[in-house]
Amino acid sequence: MGSVQHVISMKPFSRQQIESILDLADSFEAEARGEKKSDLLAGKVLTALFYEPSTRTRLSFESAMVRLGGQVLSVADAKKTSSVWKGETLEDTILTIANYCDVIAMRHPQKGAAEIAASVSSVPILNGGDDANEHPTQALLDLLTIRRERGTIDGLTVTLVGDHAHSRVTNSLLFGLANYDVKVILVNPPSLAVSRETLKYVQDKGLSVEETSDLAAALTKTDVVYIFRIQKERFEDPEEYERVKGGYQLDRAMLEAAGREITVMHPMPRVDELSTDVDDMPGACYFRQSFNGVMLRMALLAWVLGKADLD
Ligand code: NCD
Repeated sequence: MGSVQHVISMKPFSRQQIESILDLADSFEAEARGEKKSDLLAGKVLTALFYEPSTRTRLSFESAMVRLGGQVLSVADAKKTSSVWKGETLEDTILTIANYCDVIAMRHPQKGAAEIAASVSSVPILNGGDDANEHPTQALLDLLTIRRERGTIDGLTVTLVGDHAHSRVTNSLLFGLANYDVKVILVNPPSLAVSRETLKYVQDKGLSVEETSDLAAALTKTDVVYIFRIQKERFEDPEEYERVKGGYQLDRAMLEAAGREITVMHPMPRVDELSTDVDDMPGACYFRQSFNGVMLRMALLAWVLGKADLD
């Protein structure tokens, strides 16, 4: 399957590849807004195979495909509505679905599922999240968002706040940020620290990372704050979730107290960690961020389907 271009992890991406994908994504803005018609992907079919809930990832993939003239087969609740319910293996499911389409975007509750799918698939696999492991298309749209909001990624201090122990977004974003000259501050309750494996990987690549539980102090040095929900469904022990829930919160007063122009990001969905009183601050970009997902996924679809080259 050597020639098939899958997107499973952020680790293999070079800085130049990332920048080319972001440039390509920017070039699709009018198509993503529905202001310019395109038939770039006419005749191509995407299957969105989702074994876990999703609003933004699945629908922005579908929007990207449809707005570029392609078509979509959607399995939104694959655990219940596909033959998995009857006991089919992931390998057999992928071998079958690959006969029906040209590219598969998938989300699965098992770490490594996208890699297993890629190992048998004759069509590109785009990983839309595998358990708490990776979410590379989110990381790319996050990098696009930082670049669009701030005009640069290099030179910034990016503070990631939340449940880094269970967040695939944290892992993939750190792997992506490791290609840039940025300072990262990780803010989390002590029991929700990022995996030591991820930390070592990015530090070995030269990324500067500081860990703290003091959000207010971190904000005084921050250009971009990115806050995540606590991933309730990924806790093995529900009592542990009860202990940490509500453990951090970001609101307008805290941002104003920092006295800086701060860009505020969130992958969404939010629960109670990000107050709605932030929404009309100029730096609050989480709804722009979810729009950027359409442009970014257009770029990925065009690339893996051989309709656009990266520089
Ligand atoms: C994230 C996810 O599913 O990992 N959401 C998303 O894709 N935008 C974050 C989350 O669920 O908290």
